[in-house]
Amino acid sequence: MAKPTKLFVCQSCGASFPKWGGKCTSCGTWDSLVEEFPKEVVPGGLGQSKKPASRSSRIEFTSLDDAAKEVVRWPTGIGEFDRVTGGGIVPGSAILIGGDPGIGKSTLLLQVAAILTSAKDKKPLKVAYISGEEAVDQVRLRASRLGVEKAPVMLAAATSVRDIVNSLDQSDAPDVVIIDSIQTLYLDSLDSAPGTVSQVRGSAQELIRLAKTHGFALFLVGHVTKEGTIAGPKVVEHMVDAVLHFEGDRSHHFRILRAVKNRFGPSDEIGVFEMVENGLDEVKNPSALFLADRNEEVSGAAVFAGIEGTRPVLVEIQVLLSPSPLGTPRRSVVGWDNNRLSMILAVLETRCGLSLAGKDVYLNVAGGLRIQEPAADLAVAAAILSATIDHPLDQETVFFGEVGLSGEIRAVSLAEMRAKEAEKLGFKTAVAPKQKRKKKSSSQTEATSSLQINSFVHLNDLLRDLARKKAPKKDTDVLD
Ligand code: TYD
Ligand code: MG
Repeated sequence: MAKPTKLFVCQSCGASFPKWGGKCTSCGTWDSLVEEFPKEVVPGGLGQSKKPASRSSRIEFTSLDDAAKEVVRWPTGIGEFDRVTGGGIVPGSAILIGGDPGIGKSTLLLQVAAILTSAKDKKPLKVAYISGEEAVDQVRLRASRLGVEKAPVMLAAATSVRDIVNSLDQSDAPDVVIIDSIQTLYLDSLDSAPGTVSQVRGSAQELIRLAKTHGFALFLVGHVTKEGTIAGPKVVEHMVDAVLHFEGDRSHHFRILRAVKNRFGPSDEIGVFEMVENGLDEVKNPSALFLADRNEEVSGAAVFAGIEGTRPVLVEIQVLLSPSPLGTPRRSVVGWDNNRLSMILAVLETRCGLSLAGKDVYLNVAGGLRIQEPAADLAVAAAILSATIDHPLDQETVFFGEVGLSGEIRAVSLAEMRAKEAEKLGFKTAVAPKQKRKKKSSSQTEATSSLQINSFVHLNDLLRDLARKKAPKKDTDVLD
């Protein structure tokens, strides 16, 4: 059978089809099929094997308990960056860094490059920074803004993968190669435009293969689509060893580097940075920073003691309720899950008798952090309750706990760690679920170090407690 001369490739998931269609039947995305040419029809492709098929050879098996080679790491000395990479850059690994335009990807990598090339206490590394987006002068300009223009980084502007591979495929290849960005590269063996799935996949494949052969660490910058995923293929995410997302609101100074995947360290670890005049500064104590602008005595604000990766982080959750002119009131969420908010609202209405119909609900996680933990449920519920009864929550209390559909408050992991962080920042009380493993579960109030833990079983208990604090005699008003 003749090979197809063209294919239609979904730009979202990478699935390919012989015919065009309005919708990708693999991932369900509309209008994402683009005509591309398969490798086979383009002779002499870089991605194409030029060797004739060789005979197969036997693979050697070994056992799990064989002495594993210790992973070498190159720490950068930027604590927050090393934390996210799992203790430093691993030679031979490929790392994809995604993020919105202008969030600071190029800045961060240039800073990392400069540090690695000019380390004083250990052997400096050879770092190549290849920009496909900016001219060499633009990168130089950024370097002088960062005060690292003297760093011996090998700088080049290139977009052809063939040229890049030819230049790097040498015995004295650099130790670290930074590609900014993968979407600008092209393989001349493929007919499609740079940035399409086949180009991105093909280019990444070539570079990763080279990185593994020569043992250099490869950083690939990837653009992010409107939906927040790395543009082009999910397949690149599978090919690399680590995927880091650089998040943050451009109107805020904070930037969060999050390990979405990491073969050499914990995933979901975050590093917090602040964008200042001369580059990115690491933030060593994110909780203090996220709570820095807290207003005193405002209703609708609750402090959530969360866990990001392996570390506790305290953030303020703010809720605003306002009368809605719309038939269907608005639910607007920044930094949390929209569906999760709908669920908490439904639980509060059905199980606690709150009436939120006719009210717009705005939820914001202060500081630009995105929370993914269900443990934030209780803090969100507390903020909504506080906004409903228009009474501020206690300033020295933190909240954590998951809320079930019947309104019960469920235990969450790492309660001790959350409590310790809260205590460190001067909080006196935590409203939290009863921890099952605790022996003293019969008492209402338990003490972990000096932080008081107020355990509630159901959201109604929390509501009653808040109503009592607001107006001791009228605690049934809101329950009607
Ligand atoms: P950049 O690293 O170019 O972002 P990306 O590569 O992710 O597109 O960052 C650009 C933004 O950072 C730009 O809006 C200016 C700001 N910035 C600073 O505030 N301070 C600095 O020292 C630098 C270099 C950039
Ligand atoms: Mg850039």
